[in-house]
Order: sequence, then structure tokens, then C-alpha cells
Amino acid sequence: VLVEKGGFKHYMLKEIHDQPGVLRQGLESHLLNAQIALGPVQELYPQVEQMQIVACGTSWHASLVGQYILQQVAQVPTTVHYASEFRYAPPPYRPHTLTIGVTQSGETADTLAALSLEASRQLTGTPWLLGITNRPESSLGRLVPYVIDTRAGIEIGVAATKTFIAQVTAFYLLAFDLAYQRQIITQEKLELYLANLQKIPNQLEWILETQTPAIEQLAYQFQEVQHVIYLGRGINFPIALEGALKLKEISYIHAEGYPAGEMKHGPIALLDKGVPVIAIATPGTVYDKVLSNVQEARAREAHLIGVGSAANSEIPDLFHVNLTVPEVPELLSPLVTVIPLQLLAYYIAAHRGLDVDQPRNLAKSVTVE
Ligand code: G6P
Repeated sequence: VLVEKGGFKHYMLKEIHDQPGVLRQGLESHLLNAQIALGPVQELYPQVEQMQIVACGTSWHASLVGQYILQQVAQVPTTVHYASEFRYAPPPYRPHTLTIGVTQSGETADTLAALSLEASRQLTGTPWLLGITNRPESSLGRLVPYVIDTRAGIEIGVAATKTFIAQVTAFYLLAFDLAYQRQIITQEKLELYLANLQKIPNQLEWILETQTPAIEQLAYQFQEVQHVIYLGRGINFPIALEGALKLKEISYIHAEGYPAGEMKHGPIALLDKGVPVIAIATPGTVYDKVLSNVQEARAREAHLIGVGSAANSEIPDLFHVNLTVPEVPELLSPLVTVIPLQLLAYYIAAHRGLDVDQPRNLAKSVTVE
């Protein structure tokens, strides 16, 4: 079994370490002669007026990153829905909408039901349904005419890690391709995006190699912790949600992810001496805003942990603990900021002696409603 886990103690840790390879593979298999190759879905581009995404759990978080890129880069109005909500209260039907179902297993009952409902509203022709999945041979694969195969390899740990990275990568490729085909970005810009994306696998390796000791040490300090607040803004708000979900799922510690600017409307009441606040503070549009939100937490004597880039000198002074990620363009930052949060959740649960790969009450895929 240790061999299957590649020498790692748990599948989850192995899968976290698989991520540089997963990203390389995901890019390689969808780039052909420096062109993005996503298959037949590309035929729909000229007609798509808006997109709606349905998903659950970690796939829903990947979808929120997708929404950000599709709207900010490709300029396509995009909404994200919990599949379990959409299936009973869908937004009014609108033609020229591409509906995207994101599900790593391709078997999540709510996501399949939401997509079936959408298919039944499209009366003629091939339904405009795109699946982003790690299992094209799944029920999802049979339901939707268009598929992007994320090719992350089978994921065994119940808490999704490498499939998240692979889904987010699929969204980058979709948004960049759409933006280029619609002449919203130039070829030079596209090439720059792709070149930066191709640098990420090595940058993930750097995080895994250099940050693990600090994260393990930090995990020891979480033995008695009862609540953790994760803050992020903009494209890293979904990463705050994902960091909190990882912690909840495997360590059973209460965690909340919040857009940092909303902290003053509620979660700030939870803050007290020593309550951990983990803030994603990477350079970009909302960098100064996040730092000033962190100052507010500092005034309440919270225990401040920053996920930031090494190049920024303000960071070490503001936070009690710094988890460093390489400096990357803001648009790509979720791919690097999520890694320390996955590792932190893992080491906290592992130190508590919990069954990391099979957390209580959770299933790898939820095939019933
Ligand atoms: C379950 C798993 C989660 C996963 C969610 C959606 O709850 O425990 O890790 O994110 O299902 O799964 P899917 O296969 O649709 O991505």
C-alpha cells in the first residue's frame, strides 16, 4: 500500500505532491502546436452569450475561479450555482447560454440532475452542455455532448486536491481560448498567458519543497484551535473558501472562508486574542485592500497567517507566520495560493491522528440526492 501511495503516509499527501505533474499533463494534453485544443466545444464560441456553471463542493470552488476568469478575461457574463439549488430553482431559461457541469467524478447526483434539467429546457438540436470532469467515461460523459477531460489521474483521498487544480486549469484554457478567438486578447497576450501558465508546475514544486517544514510546524500550533477564518478577495476569494473546506473536511475544525472586505459585516465578531486568521495576500488589484482588512484583525489580536509572495516586504511585518508562494501574475495566483492551504489542512489532520483519506461522514462521490 505504501508503494501505491508513492512512499507518502496518505493518498491525500501523495495527491498534493502529484499536482505539478497534473498541471503539466493538463497543459500538454490541451495544447497542440502552441494552440489551445479543447475539441468540439470550440464550435460554440461565436454564439455563446453567457455561461452558467453548476457544481458541488470543491468543484463549486473551482467554478468560482472559472467565473472570475471567464468574466474578467473573456468578458462572458457567467453565473455559478450549487447544483443542489439549481435543480429546484433554476434561473429563467435563456437561449445562447452554455451550461457547464463541473464534477471530478462525473457521478454527483445533484450535478447530473441540474444538467438534465437544463437539457430538457433546450428543445432542439444538440444541448449546449459542457462537462469538465476527470472521468469522461462517467454518467456525466454520457449526458453531455461536450467534455473537457481534466486528466488528473484517479484521485483517492476524499478531500479533492489535484482534481481541483486540474479543473481550474481547464477554466484557464477555456477562458484564454475564448478571449483569443473573440479577439479580446491578442496572440501575444495569449502566448504570454500560456508561457506563465507553463511556469507554474515548477513553482508548485518550489512550494512543496520549501514550505512544508514551516507548514508542519504551524500545524502543531492548531492542536487546540476551534475556529479558523480564511480571508481572500477577488480571484482568491474562492481559495479562501477552498482552504476552509479542506480544513473542515479532514480535521473537523470549524472554518469559514470570507471575502476579506465582508469581515466587518459579521465574522469580525468571532475574532479574539489568538483566533487564527489566514489571509491570502498576493500582489494585484486587491492587495492593499486585503492588507488593510488584515490590520483590522490585528487590532483584535488575532493570530495572523499570511499566504503571500516573497517579494513583498510589507508581509513579514504584518503577519505572525508567513507561508510563501512565488510571485505569479494575479490571474494565475489561485494555482499557487491553494497549495499551502491544502498542506496545512493535511498536516493539522495528520497530527491529530485522523483518518485523512476517509474522513467521517463524507464520501468521495455522492451519487444519491
Ligand atoms: C463530495 C466529495 C468532495 C467533492 C464533491 C463534489 O462531497 O467529498 O470532495 O468536491 O463531492 O464531487 P464531484 O465529483 O462532483 O466533483
